[in-house]
Amino acid sequence: MTKKEKSATYVSELESIFKCPICEASMNVFELKSFICSNNHTFDFTKQGYLNLTTHPMKTKYSKDFFEARRKLIAEDKFFEPLIQAIAEMIRRQADIKKESLWILDTGCGEGSHLSNVCDKVRSDFGKAVTGVGIDIAKEGVLAAAKNYTHNIWAVADLANTPFKDKRFDVILNILSPSNYAEFNRLLRADGLVMKVVPRSGYLKEIREDLFDKTVKQDYSNTEAVDRFNENFRILDSFRVHYTRKLNQPSIQLFMQMTPLTWSAKKERIQSFLEKDSADITVDLEILIGRKTN
Ligand SMILES: C[S@@+](CC[C@H](N)C(=O)[O-])C[C@H]1O[C@@H](n2cnc3c(N)ncnc32)[C@H](O)[C@@H]1O
Ligand SMILES: [Zn+2]
Repeated sequence: MTKKEKSATYVSELESIFKCPICEASMNVFELKSFICSNNHTFDFTKQGYLNLTTHPMKTKYSKDFFEARRKLIAEDKFFEPLIQAIAEMIRRQADIKKESLWILDTGCGEGSHLSNVCDKVRSDFGKAVTGVGIDIAKEGVLAAAKNYTHNIWAVADLANTPFKDKRFDVILNILSPSNYAEFNRLLRADGLVMKVVPRSGYLKEIREDLFDKTVKQDYSNTEAVDRFNENFRILDSFRVHYTRKLNQPSIQLFMQMTPLTWSAKKERIQSFLEKDSADITVDLEILIGRKTN
């Protein structure tokens, strides 16, 4: 079986969660090639096995190199391992573990390593079925995810207007990505959880200090994000993930490719950071855990 056929077979088992992004009708897999709604809107499975369920092409600044560097740092260097541990532990504590299987949706999944790692950990911790679905508006991210992680469903889709029916997910992950809380509420089952990861003031401070003068870019404040989250969900818990890692030369190169911070920095400053032999990098993140209120 090709990757495309494998993925189409997997989607056919779960097709009832989807709705057509154009007309909202139910969708069916056709001949392990296409995903078609009852009004004949057709979306083909790609060679790599992902679906493109957007209604119009969306431009993003995220490139193939960005996601490849991010994948190497996350999957190979395990740079975000403590974050993944913490998310899996929070799911273990807060999700309804009596359920037979858990459905997890990652909104803004990028190249998919976080979702794949979280699902693997929850599977081994719970010893039960977990279905992981990742969506992102950046095709390059979803393509990398489908290439590297075949045990999940991957789709190019807008998190503000997702191709899923109401109340299908137990957990929504939203890691360093934009949110749409009305849509998240629609997608969550009763008692479903949202886990939003936002930067805290120390996040990547060494890079920000080096790349920028004392400007607004130098400070991350998450007060607004926390307030908005609070207005939409009942906050159950929040958890700070804070650590420093020493990066060697090759990892510094990867790091500078995978952070949007370089998009607005001066070339000379980026260059001098790239020439360092090693660098301490601080990760300072907050996981906000909220439960659906209505
Ligand atoms: C900083 S990246 C984080 C990616 C991933 N969560 C990670 O931590 O590696 C932000 C992601 O949000 C995605 N994104 C932005 N707007 C989106 C939207 N409307 N729908 C889906 N994804 C979106 C981007 O394409 C990008 O992959
Ligand atoms: Zn349709």
